[in-house]
Amino acid sequence: LLRTRKPIVAIDGPAGAGKSSVTKMVAQQLGLFYLDTGAMYRSITWLVMNSDVRLTDEPGIAELANQATIEVTETYVKVNDQDVTQAIRTPEVTANVSAIAAQGAVRQVLVRQQQEAAARGGVILEGRDIGTHVFPDAELKIFLTATPAERARRRQKDLERMGQPAEDLAALEQSIAERDAKDSNRLIAPLRKASDAVEVVTDGMTIEQVVAKLVAMYRSVAG
Ligand code: CDP
Ligand code: CDP
Repeated sequence: LLRTRKPIVAIDGPAGAGKSSVTKMVAQQLGLFYLDTGAMYRSITWLVMNSDVRLTDEPGIAELANQATIEVTETYVKVNDQDVTQAIRTPEVTANVSAIAAQGAVRQVLVRQQQEAAARGGVILEGRDIGTHVFPDAELKIFLTATPAERARRRQKDLERMGQPAEDLAALEQSIAERDAKDSNRLIAPLRKASDAVEVVTDGMTIEQVVAKLVAMYRSVAG
């Protein structure tokens, strides 16, 4: 078969499943480029919250996204040359990101940028709709998940580590469940396992175990 590009790996799943941490390490071990598409939606959300554009102004937000330069790397995220690595992870941005990500106009802008960035392949992308919409022909699709309780515990530890105000475990689980519901129930490109994706439930698995599993899966499909 004539292969016109290098393999693409799609990692999708709900909040706190371990997508970012696992994907970064898999990318390193396999020599793939890593693209965190959630950071792009967070960046636009941060931009809107720091502008006069309202959260419901779909054309205005798409216009902002079109004009913005978003630089997502493994170590930092910049929007119009401003470092927003920490700023896009605040609870305020997290609370608003799903509403913006539900808008078709902004998705169109970001999905095109993702497809262009990964066009040559040799890329592992993580998000919500990579296997279903961004790269439906990806060589390997993983749906990474864990129970809501486990994901809330992980997020609580994250907040501690980042020195952010502690949040009650039940409240965290609630906010994660709300975001998952918004992402799963939206009309455009909802969070959902692609029919040909492999589901990996990570409760009780260390990051290293998940990484090893994904690396083995990649080697079995891409050599
Ligand atoms: O890291 P975490 O799981 O908290 O979320 P993220 O990957 O940073 O994504 C933040 C939000 O962006 C998600 O809750 C979705 O609303 C949106 N998103 C999306 O709609 N499509 C993607 N491909 C990636 C993220
Ligand atoms: O990107 P996503 O929201 O899916 O999750 P993440 O930010 O990569 O992972 C959330 C937290 O869970 C991080 O602190 C990871 O270190 C932790 N984690 C874990 O404890 N065990 C795993 N198997 C995967 C992630």
